Amino acid sequence: MPIEIDAARLLSEIESLALISEAAPPVVTRVVFTPADMRARAWFAERCAEAGLSVRRDAIGNTFARWQGDLDAPVVGTGSHIDAIPNAGKFDGVVGVLGGLEAIRALQRSGFRPRCSIELLLLTSEEPTRFGIGCLGSRLLAGTISPDAARKLTDKEGESVETVRRNAGFTGALEDVKLPRGYYKAFVELHIEQGPILEREKIPLGIVTKIAAPASARITLEGSGGHAGGVVMPDRRDALCAAAELILAIERAAKTTGSPNTVATVGICDVFPGAVNSIPSRVRITLDLRDTNLTTRDAAMNAIDAAAKEISARRGVSIATEMLNSDAPADSAPEIIDALSAACKTHGERFMLMISRAYHDSLFLSRVAPMAMLFIPCRNGYSHRPDEYASIEDISRGALILAEALATLSS
Ligand code: HGY
Ligand code: MN
Ligand code: MN
Repeated sequence: MPIEIDAARLLSEIESLALISEAAPPVVTRVVFTPADMRARAWFAERCAEAGLSVRRDAIGNTFARWQGDLDAPVVGTGSHIDAIPNAGKFDGVVGVLGGLEAIRALQRSGFRPRCSIELLLLTSEEPTRFGIGCLGSRLLAGTISPDAARKLTDKEGESVETVRRNAGFTGALEDVKLPRGYYKAFVELHIEQGPILEREKIPLGIVTKIAAPASARITLEGSGGHAGGVVMPDRRDALCAAAELILAIERAAKTTGSPNTVATVGICDVFPGAVNSIPSRVRITLDLRDTNLTTRDAAMNAIDAAAKEISARRGVSIATEMLNSDAPADSAPEIIDALSAACKTHGERFMLMISRAYHDSLFLSRVAPMAMLFIPCRNGYSHRPDEYASIEDISRGALILAEALATLSS
């Protein structure tokens, strides 16, 4: 029987999940291990149980919903995340989790029987919102972060990963999260593009060949404070003015690498003491820096460091840069790209090969399994904002191609 996606059910589930949020619709905010995230996880586990999948969770809350095949190993994996940054939309990550669930149900309805088991993953803390680095769950699966380093990460309230995960009911040993070698023979993630290319090119599907290399840092600038009236300009060591210069230097560094793939963002700027009539003595900014080419990205980081040194010396403001993560890019595996392109051809769907400037859990799963991603368009390329939008036609098309590829990979 043909594979058919139940678009109405998939859309209804996306809408239901969107309502499990710390913010009122249309805004989705679902930060890892908050009450909304925990409610969403429970809701997801119920949907998986309804589909006859066996659900297990590891010590960081990664959730594995398994469709048992004839073989216990190796396994074919798919999935993404459902945690959402503040003031987000309803599709980022969710399309890969609920689209993956519908792909499995469609295969079940078609009478397909997997030879290799298929696992749908909900990966913990893909977003860096709470603990400062993204993809915490998939990093631990891949072993690219040590359990000790993970345990020590803290949120803004100073709560550690160790405390927060245990309070959320995940009490196992983080040492047991790392996947055994060869656990997955393939990992495929369906995701919205989070960029404008597919829509602009009027192509409904993107097969990702490379995922950009993300790096992030916390930069603290310390000058001297004082009275906004009493301290004359030549005597000032204003931390916010130094930060302003550094932020423009960061933008310049990204614009002058010669690569269109270098992107840099300062998304957070905390000013202390934050009073109208008090000179900022301390400023903390975050840096998000990416490129598909490691050398280019690191050259931009060197330029930023050089600018910081010069600003610091000239302004008498100390500038300390704490790297939070600095990851290599990921190349998709040719055999997974082939499975996805064959699936598109089987269904007569046009596709293009493309890179991902956003990072994803697949970046880290690529360290332990052959990986590729399948993108669908999102309107105007918008993401990480409430008006993020993907049509159910595009989502269903992505789920269909994913189902076809999972059938091929698990046969
Ligand atoms: O920031 C990213 O690339 C991802 O959406 N967390
Ligand atoms: Mn995101
Ligand atoms: Mn995402």
